[in-house]
Amino acid sequence: MVNLLLGLQWGDEGKGKIVDVLTKNYDIIARFQGGPNAGHTLIFDGNKHVLHTIPSGIFHKKAINIVGNGVVIDPVIFKKEIDNLSGYNIDFNKKLLISRKAHVILPTHRLLDAASETAKGKAKIGSTLKGIGPTYMDKTGRNGFRIGDFELDNWKEKYQQLTQKHLNMLRCYNADIQFDLDELEKEFFEGVKTLKKLQFIDSEFYIQQALKEEQTILAEGAQGSLLDIDFGTYPFVTSSNTTAAGACTGLGVAPNKIGKGFGIFKAYVTRVGSGPFPTELFDDNGKRMAKVGHEFGATTGRPRRCGWLDLVALKYAVEINGITELAMMKADVLSGFKTLKVAVKYNYKGQEISHFPYNIEPENVTPIYKEVKGWQEDITNINEYDQLPETLKDYIKMIEDYVKVPVKIVSVGPDRKQTIFR
Ligand code: IMP
Repeated sequence: MVNLLLGLQWGDEGKGKIVDVLTKNYDIIARFQGGPNAGHTLIFDGNKHVLHTIPSGIFHKKAINIVGNGVVIDPVIFKKEIDNLSGYNIDFNKKLLISRKAHVILPTHRLLDAASETAKGKAKIGSTLKGIGPTYMDKTGRNGFRIGDFELDNWKEKYQQLTQKHLNMLRCYNADIQFDLDELEKEFFEGVKTLKKLQFIDSEFYIQQALKEEQTILAEGAQGSLLDIDFGTYPFVTSSNTTAAGACTGLGVAPNKIGKGFGIFKAYVTRVGSGPFPTELFDDNGKRMAKVGHEFGATTGRPRRCGWLDLVALKYAVEINGITELAMMKADVLSGFKTLKVAVKYNYKGQEISHFPYNIEPENVTPIYKEVKGWQEDITNINEYDQLPETLKDYIKMIEDYVKVPVKIVSVGPDRKQTIFR
């Protein structure tokens, strides 16, 4: 069986921590979409690690880590990730396998991302500028450069053709993007060298074989459901399917092989980049969440926007993904709030609705809140569910009653150890 681990909000829910905690139960951890726009933070033994492309199982002795066909890989960032892990004595050649069908982010994809954002002006997406959108555009436009292409004798020719096309496209944008292509290519080719030392595989066959041998697989999602290209807050989304179906296409796994769906959400909501966010707070409550929760992007360092928990959006994500168990993150950040608000309905163009509508721009949607009591205690050292404050347990029960899925994990701090299983 393949179990899924998915973010249910706008990313940054804490997926890295939970994959890391769960890894010991799995033979294989596989990333299935997104690219180095992701930043999965893991904290253990007093050290902090941020992974962008490499699956979060890399620190565990046993697990094999697969970068699946649905992922887009930037060799430059990939090399940096590998270099940053040099102190860990990891046998990358054995433990990290790359799908031949994954697409490659070229330096010019990043330039196109920047040009596209600049040209959009105020309407910009707030992209991480890692070249994600342009790389997926080349994929669906059938022009892409894939990992398997590096095995061709004439791969540089193919690379140059695509780069040339991008340089021509860049001229069409009304954006003044400065760059030194020689410099960019130098680091790209260095990255390619590192990448080529790893095993490229037909990952769909590898996974099928593993399933026949009854190995356990965890598919690690990146970003969150509300950033899904189809079901997110389009156009303020990323360019891949971050939801459950993305794991099928991004790894070559049939829907009937999917088992559990772990859904990760924060006890409040954050968003980085532009786009609508109905429960966003502009007051001291929001500032407090940002400060206590250290809400700054792991990839870009940008401050994250913060707001109350939105159950309408959470239920939408739970249902789209078929989530079977929930993990609630950062409950500790809300300690000390006298009362908490939770969106339970929307006022949508004057009507009360309980579903996530086509358009959630502020002129169309105002959240309808329920106010509940907060918890005052420091919960960061609690390790048993029963010891949690009653008001926090009530908060969890309210969520479960609303979305009809149990909360099985409560995270009370960033460290691996600060995780309560129920
Ligand atoms: P892109 O995927 O870099 O093009 O960014 C598109 C939108 O998704 C922007 O609003 C980003 O801030 C957001 N985004 C992309 N990756 C992540 C992530 O890993 N966490 C949170 N937001 C993300």
